[in-house]
Amino acid sequence: MPCEARDPATFALLDRVGVVEGMHVLEAGAGTGSVTAWLAERLGADGRVMSTDIDLVLHAEMPPNVILRQHDITSDRLPAEHFDVVHARAVIQHLSDPAAVLGRLYRALKPGGAMVIEHDAREQGRDLNAGAPVLGWMRDLAMEDLEVVSTTEPIEPAGEWIVTVGRKPAAGTATGAGI
Ligand SMILES: C[S@@+](CC[C@H](N)C(=O)[O-])C[C@H]1O[C@@H](n2cnc3c(N)ncnc32)[C@H](O)[C@@H]1O
Repeated sequence: MPCEARDPATFALLDRVGVVEGMHVLEAGAGTGSVTAWLAERLGADGRVMSTDIDLVLHAEMPPNVILRQHDITSDRLPAEHFDVVHARAVIQHLSDPAAVLGRLYRALKPGGAMVIEHDAREQGRDLNAGAPVLGWMRDLAMEDLEVVSTTEPIEPAGEWIVTVGRKPAAGTATGAGI
C-alpha cells in the first residue's frame, strides 16, 4: 500500500507538532513529494521545504518555496541547526544504521526544533513496539517532549503506523548528548 494513504494522518500530526507559516522544514526521503506539497502550502512564501531523496525520479514538480535535492541521508551534508522541523516517513528503518541517520537529522535541527519519525509496523512483523528503538535513540540524543503513538486503525489502507516525536532542547538547555 503506498505511503500516501497515510497522508491525512501525517498532515494532522505535523499540524499538531506545530508546523506553521514561515518555518524551514526538512522532508527526508520524500518519495513522490506528497508531504512536501502539503508542507509547501502550509509554510507559505516565507517558508522553505528542503525535500530530499536518494532518487528523485518519482518526485513531482513543486512550487518555488521547495528546494529539491538528490541527497543520500546516510552520507550527504545537511545544514547544521537549520530546520524548525525534520520529518521522515518510512525511510530510516530501511537504512543499515538508522541511529546514525537520526543523529544527522538531530544536528540539522535548530535548538527547540521537532523531529518526527514515522514508520509502518507491518514492515517489522506487525510489531507495534517497533518504535522503541527510535525512542531510545532520541533519548540518547537527550531530546525532550518524547512521544510514541501507535495507530492500528484503520488497518487498511493506511497501515499500522508508529510515530515517534522528539524536540531538540532549546539553546542553553542542551546536555551535549549525541550519537
Ligand atoms: C517507502 S518510501 C517513502 C517515501 C515517502 N517518505 C513517503 O512516505 O511517501 C522510502 C523512500 O526513501 C528513499 N530513500 C531510501 N534510501 C535513502 C537514502 N539513503 N537517502 C535518502 N532517501 C532514501 C527512497 O528513495 C524512497 O523514496
